[in-house]
Amino acid sequence: MSEEAEKKVCTGPECALPGSESGVKPLDEDLVMKKAVRNFKEGEVAETGKVNKYGFPSLDLSEAIFTRRSVRYFLEKPVPKEYLYKIVEAGMWAPSACNRQAWRFLVIDKQEIKDRICKEVTAYYIKNVPLLILVCYSNRTDNIEYMDHYQSASACIQNMQLAATSLGLGSVCADNLPTRRTMRRILGMPWHYTPIAFVSIGYPKIQPKALARKGTAKELVSFNQWKFDVSEYDRFTRFSKANIKLNVKVVLRWIYFRLPAFMKVLLDPIARRFEKRFDKYNIEV
Ligand SMILES: Cc1cc2nc3c(=O)[nH]c(=O)nc-3n(C[C@H](O)[C@H](O)[C@H](O)COP(=O)(O)O)c2cc1C
Repeated sequence: MSEEAEKKVCTGPECALPGSESGVKPLDEDLVMKKAVRNFKEGEVAETGKVNKYGFPSLDLSEAIFTRRSVRYFLEKPVPKEYLYKIVEAGMWAPSACNRQAWRFLVIDKQEIKDRICKEVTAYYIKNVPLLILVCYSNRTDNIEYMDHYQSASACIQNMQLAATSLGLGSVCADNLPTRRTMRRILGMPWHYTPIAFVSIGYPKIQPKALARKGTAKELVSFNQWKFDVSEYDRFTRFSKANIKLNVKVVLRWIYFRLPAFMKVLLDPIARRFEKRFDKYNIEV
């Protein structure tokens, strides 16, 4: 692969962090640091001294919404335990279907457990995360049609990420996990709880630049009837190439995730070619 092409492709989540075992050319850390939009000074926001009545640094809501970025590079500095509880509490104040509030937060800090998860799915990034929280939610709902356990957990995760932002921390949500069954087995989780996603949190090493939003608010709103332009982001008609390709990926993913761990290790080089890609160079100069 040419150097130019290599720059464009970044790596999936597991490769996006320093020290990953991706085999992808590592970032030139110095260059990245120079280009960083904003290198957070450790605890920058949290240590301004201005704390609101909820015990959070005063940060305008819109500021938190519009400056939150998915952060995938963290300093080695640990996240204080009190911040963990603040972030979880912010999650607990999210809306939940039928007010069930059936979330649970599994903090994973044992290397042995991280290793077991990595063996099942290429999620090497979790090894470098200062605070790794698996958000879980009870799947005992009658609203399977709209999967309201996923919806409630997602609202909770969003609150957690905004809270982390306001504490001067970076975060990223990732649902590239082993099968639910495997996760339950590894973590001793009962069947009526569903692992929803990992929320990785830490002091940002670099703050990625904002990724452009696809379309404008006006383009994405229609009144009463579905009257949207068919744009390049809306190309999944039933027999479109994009749709067929996606369906093939769904099947391959289903099979891959159910293979025994040793086979996944063998297939690792092939599997990596199908990973989601993120632009690790999305850092403003
Ligand atoms: C449900 C969900 C799953 C995600 N999974 C991953 C993931 O597996 N790896 C990763 O690096 N980012 C993951 N992300 C983060 C997205 O890539 C990110 O939100 C997106 O690229 C937009 O960037 P921004 O959050 O900085 O605006 C996920 C986000 C969501 C909401």
